[in-house]
Amino acid sequence: MSKTGNLSHSRRVALIWLISAFCFFALFKMALYNSSQTPLDSPNSNTERRSKLYDKMGRDLDEHGAAFLKQGETSQSLSLSDIFTLKDGSVTPVLKPANPPVRANVLYLSTEFSVPIAEAVKNIFDPYFDKAIWFQNSSLYHFSMFHASHHIVPVPATKEEIEAEASSVEAIAATLCPLKIVLDRVVLTSTGVLLGCWQVMSGTDPITIRAKLKNVLPRAPKKQLYDVAILHTSFARLLGPPTASSSTERLKTSNDAHFFHELVNRLNSQIRGFEAVVSELWYVEEYDVLALALNGRMKTRKFRLGCSRE
Ligand SMILES: *[C@@H]1O[C@H](CO)[C@@H](O)[C@H](O)[C@H]1NC(C)=O
Repeated sequence: MSKTGNLSHSRRVALIWLISAFCFFALFKMALYNSSQTPLDSPNSNTERRSKLYDKMGRDLDEHGAAFLKQGETSQSLSLSDIFTLKDGSVTPVLKPANPPVRANVLYLSTEFSVPIAEAVKNIFDPYFDKAIWFQNSSLYHFSMFHASHHIVPVPATKEEIEAEASSVEAIAATLCPLKIVLDRVVLTSTGVLLGCWQVMSGTDPITIRAKLKNVLPRAPKKQLYDVAILHTSFARLLGPPTASSSTERLKTSNDAHFFHELVNRLNSQIRGFEAVVSELWYVEEYDVLALALNGRMKTRKFRLGCSRE
């Protein structure tokens, strides 16, 4: 072969390589783009989805005003005046039997993590709200995942059916990996619920957990109570306006909304970024409406997240 032939041959080879590399790169970019379109498997898009949701929840108070000051509704469409009463000067939940009992699947936050949060919440809010606040029991901090039955769409079940549901949930728990989570922010909703909104650093994403539970609980209400991506826990419920005191007056310079934001900001500056590990899934039969939130009657089955292969 001549020298020039050799040269043009190697040029051709180089050109083919270049074209191949370009095609590969283009396909690779397309694959990347497509994967970002499917939120189910991509941790980044789950995180983004939660951030957007939390942004929206953070705006709720400004957009809808403090509805709890005029007897608002809770996130579960129950009027607050229905669930609390002032008895001997202290706030007492009004427990109402749930018929049939609500069957909730929740992730549980152990007291190792909940107690320090509860203390910070109490320190900041208690001085200003006196009786007009209900604190979530720190032994029962939880993240609502999926309801097998709720009060809006009750799904009655026999004892046997309940046992079967519980074992299905236990089997799912065995496949879930403990979640390392971080407190993204605290928000106060227009209904007066002080919520911790969390992000997932590692472990099984709530989107996957809910999908798996839905799969083994086919009779569950189609319409669930929360967004599939959300990972939130309720810290407290404000029931009315702050009590007047010299310190309140000092803070209440302009209006209530400003005052509420100020308190939430204080709490955020203390506990935002707080890290925790979640390692239990609970199947809870709530015999009273909102039993987990109001210290009502319930039966809990506790399952450790096993992280085993399916
Ligand atoms: C908080 O929950 C724990 C565990 O269920 C319970 O033992 C305790 O009595 C509750 N506290 C209140 C004040 O109801």
